[in-house]
Amino acid sequence: MKELGYYNGVVGELGEMTVPMNDRASWFGDGVYDAGLCRNYRLFNLDEHVDRLFRSASMLEIRVPVSKEELKTLLCDLVKKVDTGDTFVYCQVTRGGGPRMHCFPEGPANLWVTVTPRVMNTRPEPVSLITAEDTRFFHCDIKTLNLIPSVMANERAKRAGAYECVLYRPGGRVTECSHSNVHIIKDGVLYTAPADNLILAGITRAHLIAACGRLGIPVRETPFTVAELMAADEILTTSSSNLCNRACMVDGTEAGMKRPDLYEAIRDELMGEFLTETAAERESAE
Ligand code: PDD
Repeated sequence: MKELGYYNGVVGELGEMTVPMNDRASWFGDGVYDAGLCRNYRLFNLDEHVDRLFRSASMLEIRVPVSKEELKTLLCDLVKKVDTGDTFVYCQVTRGGGPRMHCFPEGPANLWVTVTPRVMNTRPEPVSLITAEDTRFFHCDIKTLNLIPSVMANERAKRAGAYECVLYRPGGRVTECSHSNVHIIKDGVLYTAPADNLILAGITRAHLIAACGRLGIPVRETPFTVAELMAADEILTTSSSNLCNRACMVDGTEAGMKRPDLYEAIRDELMGEFLTETAAERESAE
């Protein structure tokens, strides 16, 4: 199979799968999701992604129709049905189906999975960023399907020839990007926004903090502003799909790129972890 779709037990080629129109995803985007990378048919950080999916669901009182262990087993089985072992694995749970009414429907939630080919770029070039006001709601810690402001922000970045859009709240506090977290290094210290309701607590962000701990780089989980971002020694973005990118430009002005030693140490740590954890059986035995 080239690209896999799964819906409540039915498996097929993604482009040929159909879902009922009354799924709450189509009425209200009423659901949560999580997503991560798979390499050599091995799912990276599977426990953390499943834990976060269940946390997002419970914050919206959605009951995931399977247990954590059942979901892990299902995902491990589904990735094996795809021709390549290097994939992006996306899983969402929607609040069941029924007529369009705002209050909750009766009946179980729906489970969706997609598995699509994706290869990690292990040597990414420095990227450009743009900035825009963060007009999202105040539950950014829940990974819900409602991502219109992120979609608009990312399209804006694309049209500007940039990789990502850094979002800031009125007053200038940087929150995160449209689909990644953003961090700065200044005077040898890594600053990252606190994991409150204004950002998604990225799994890669947690691994970045742990990596800094191992490297002896102090970490401050404290808000920083757009002005501080512009004056930073390094600007990093993190996400499950790209791990760690380094920015060289913000809103058309050169920025960051002053501590290649720290950037490279961090990137090697994160990339090394990914490559080791997802090594093929033979590769890991060597
Ligand atoms: N993005 N912030 C937002 C708004 C995101 O959508 C994501 C993930 C992150 C990074 O979280 P993590 O490190 O757990 O992936 C932060 C998708 C899944 C991605 O592009 O990978």
